[in-house]
Amino acid sequence: LVAFPTETVYGLGADAENEKAVSRIYLAKGRPSDHPLIVHVASEEYLSHWGTDIPEYAQKLSEKFWPGPMTLILNRSESAADFITGGQETVGIRIPNHPVALSLLQEFHARGGKGVAAPSANRFGKVSPTDASAVRGELEGSLEHGDLILEGGFSEVGIESTIIDCTGAIPKILRPGAITAEMITAVTGLEIDDSASEIRASGLLESHYSPAASVVLDEQPSSGDGFIAMSNVETPSGVVRLASPESIEQYAQLLYSALRKADDLGLSRVVAWQPTGAGFAIAVRDRLARASHGS
Ligand code: TXA
Ligand code: MG
Repeated sequence: LVAFPTETVYGLGADAENEKAVSRIYLAKGRPSDHPLIVHVASEEYLSHWGTDIPEYAQKLSEKFWPGPMTLILNRSESAADFITGGQETVGIRIPNHPVALSLLQEFHARGGKGVAAPSANRFGKVSPTDASAVRGELEGSLEHGDLILEGGFSEVGIESTIIDCTGAIPKILRPGAITAEMITAVTGLEIDDSASEIRASGLLESHYSPAASVVLDEQPSSGDGFIAMSNVETPSGVVRLASPESIEQYAQLLYSALRKADDLGLSRVVAWQPTGAGFAIAVRDRLARASHGS
């Protein structure tokens, strides 16, 4: 297994053609094995290796936004085995935009590899890691001798890629991210399908991305609480400020490390004030909603 940095979050990678290697991802994460994995590749030519029936709009999206924080879901080719797709007839593919990830993938392709299957490098249901030390914290007990964690600094985007289902006549967003509905429409000229998805995605489970601390939204923080809010909001006395982002982009970038910090400090409660507005703020609110589910 090789944990590696991407611009969204760190991934835990294995050869996407090697069932034994891929099964170790599930073990290390404690993740149910019927959850599909995203295949990471270094260039567009591998799109048709893993997927079939690629619609024109998917081609346009790949040309515009790859390498980048976007995953395309396509009908699978024969190469995409059940142990990658979770037994579904579709496969997720992404070209990440990070120099370490890209050189890892290029080296792997140069040796005949077709792609690297990688979920986020956290234990199942936990907060995705956005730096190498967070990966170590998550996976310390589950990696084996010879497994690697590649250093690549802090993930610039900070939350997971936008997942776009490209198996229908028009694109459908399965998980919001930095590539927004407006951006997709601008590039494809198509409306977004907003009907409820029947495709399972573990990131779509209601409870996900959760720290040990309970997370509550838009409440007044009390003394001893952790607090995440935009920088123009003041910190009440006795409250532990975990992040003060100045933009939506920075909110996404800091969110997971702020939640992690709450656990490191042993806080029992985090209050987060949601960012307002459309675009990327939708993805940040999506992750906050999941982190707070059940709290
Ligand atoms: O930004 C990202 O996407 C990160 C980095 C490492 O690339 N990866 C990531 O992987 O977030 P993961 O496994 O934590 O989340 C991927 C989501 C899961 O919810 C999975 O169920 C969904 O993508 N997914 C993968 N293949 C799918 C498919 N064929 N159909 C529907 N959903 C799929
Ligand atoms: Mg994940």
